[in-house]
Amino acid sequence: MTHIIDGKALALSVRAQLSKEINTLKTRGITPGLAVVLVGQDPASQMYVKNKKLACSKTGIESFSYELSNDTTEDELYELVLKLNADSKIDGILVQLPLPSHLNEQRILTAISPEKDVDGFHPENLGKLLRGEPCMEACTPAGIIALIDSTGTDISGKNAVVVGRSNIVGKPVSIMLLSRHATVTICHSKTKDLPAKIKGADILVAALGKPEFIKGDWIKERSIVIDVGTNHTKDRGLIGDVEFKEASLHAAAITPVPGGVGPMTIAMLLKNTVKSAMKRR
Ligand code: GUN
Repeated sequence: MTHIIDGKALALSVRAQLSKEINTLKTRGITPGLAVVLVGQDPASQMYVKNKKLACSKTGIESFSYELSNDTTEDELYELVLKLNADSKIDGILVQLPLPSHLNEQRILTAISPEKDVDGFHPENLGKLLRGEPCMEACTPAGIIALIDSTGTDISGKNAVVVGRSNIVGKPVSIMLLSRHATVTICHSKTKDLPAKIKGADILVAALGKPEFIKGDWIKERSIVIDVGTNHTKDRGLIGDVEFKEASLHAAAITPVPGGVGPMTIAMLLKNTVKSAMKRR
């Protein structure tokens, strides 16, 4: 029987543990604070930000919302980040991506104080991740590792194939898998014979952002499949990067979309915010 990995349940158990830690912090007069910055009106980003703020309030984290118009200048956003860096009530700063195209994402992300970088996107945190040093870890990649661990699979020595090379998911999760001693192959749009690469994957992380691009019969028997895709379709709603039904016939364990990686991304964001509050105060 294929195990459907319940990301929602795992996220709830992480959040229950965090609630306890937050209650302890509150007895010391500390309420963890997260600044959530959204620029523009992208509907998917609006939904993600809404879910993040809701999760904060349910867990006991205070969220501070900054919803800025599409014509916000880079200097205005930069100044806001500097203001949030200096605000002692704020333990974490999240700037929802993608930013409108006139804004330089790297300049803004680099302006966030590394200790408040709960997304783990600052070059200092990414550099530490690469060197195997303790750091703020990117949320989706950290959630993916937790989902794999929840299956009881030992990552060490496994062939892991990551499809997608984004700074947000593909690259950091590859480094995390490598630091857990997997043999990692990173595939992308120029990779030759993707089906053959995937056939060799004991662990597959699909993060390419193309609806059901990865076919069920490419999946290795008894493998672990983590589907990071969140593709909004008109006729079928939210679907992943992997053909779920067909892949389930081959995988030992697979994450559904929705209800797999998404809830864990949010849980890891809350975890990083609490971690920052504990360290800073
Ligand atoms: N856009 C898509 N995923 C993420 C994420 O994990 N963090 C931020 N800030 N933006 C995103």
